[in-house]
Amino acid sequence: MKYFIGNWKMFGVPNSINILNKINSYYSKDKNRSKYRVIITPPYTLIESYAKHFKNKKISIGSQNCYQKDYFSSNTAAISPYMIKKVGARYTLIGHSDNRSEGDTNEMLKAKVQFALKNNLRVVFCIGENKTEKRNKKTLSALKRQISKVLEKKFRISNIIVAYEPIWSIGTGKIPTKIELENTTMHIKKVLKNIFKGKSPPVLYGGSVDGNNVEIFREIREIDGFLIGGASKSSKKFIDIIKNYYR
Ligand code: 13P
Repeated sequence: MKYFIGNWKMFGVPNSINILNKINSYYSKDKNRSKYRVIITPPYTLIESYAKHFKNKKISIGSQNCYQKDYFSSNTAAISPYMIKKVGARYTLIGHSDNRSEGDTNEMLKAKVQFALKNNLRVVFCIGENKTEKRNKKTLSALKRQISKVLEKKFRISNIIVAYEPIWSIGTGKIPTKIELENTTMHIKKVLKNIFKGKSPPVLYGGSVDGNNVEIFREIREIDGFLIGGASKSSKKFIDIIKNYYR
């Protein structure tokens, strides 16, 4: 199974559902539709209405983050996985570099993953090296650290997806070379297999994915799909990625 996940970040108002309606109508007619899933993570403000709208349809809705503990609490602006699940989301991103840079530590991320899984959300756990780590050839060790500080063998593997997003690639139009991608994704799967008794959850790639470069990623067997930022805000660009992937 492949995954095409659109992360809207801070984008969208109720009317933006038109973008998803177009993606959904392409998806429902696509002859390849049994081979992949489409998930969109809109901002919290839109989760409930979008999840309701797509309840019996192909697209699933997720959140972009969640709080690490408590069903309810007195923490201003925090939103728990319980609240997210209750309004119809089925997935949540955890560990996106935007949130790591705002203070999400490995300890917090571990608690978030654990609590999201407990609330029956599927977790898309994001990892990725920064520019300095890449320059100093520390990519593999950085990725290994990010994974092993958070994921544990007792976590339910069938509800985990890992998204590899090199931070230097997000929103820059720069992507890793094919060789780099082969090495990093193989490494990530090896680290995951060490944790999960020889099995690996799906590993996605994210960072400047578009309809023009998606064919490069298609050649790398270890990549199980994509986490798409900018191009997920346009139905045409998002559909082009799927179309060109299966061409
Ligand atoms: P872009 O596709 O805009 O580079 O964003 C990737 C990303 O951060 C998705 O979570």
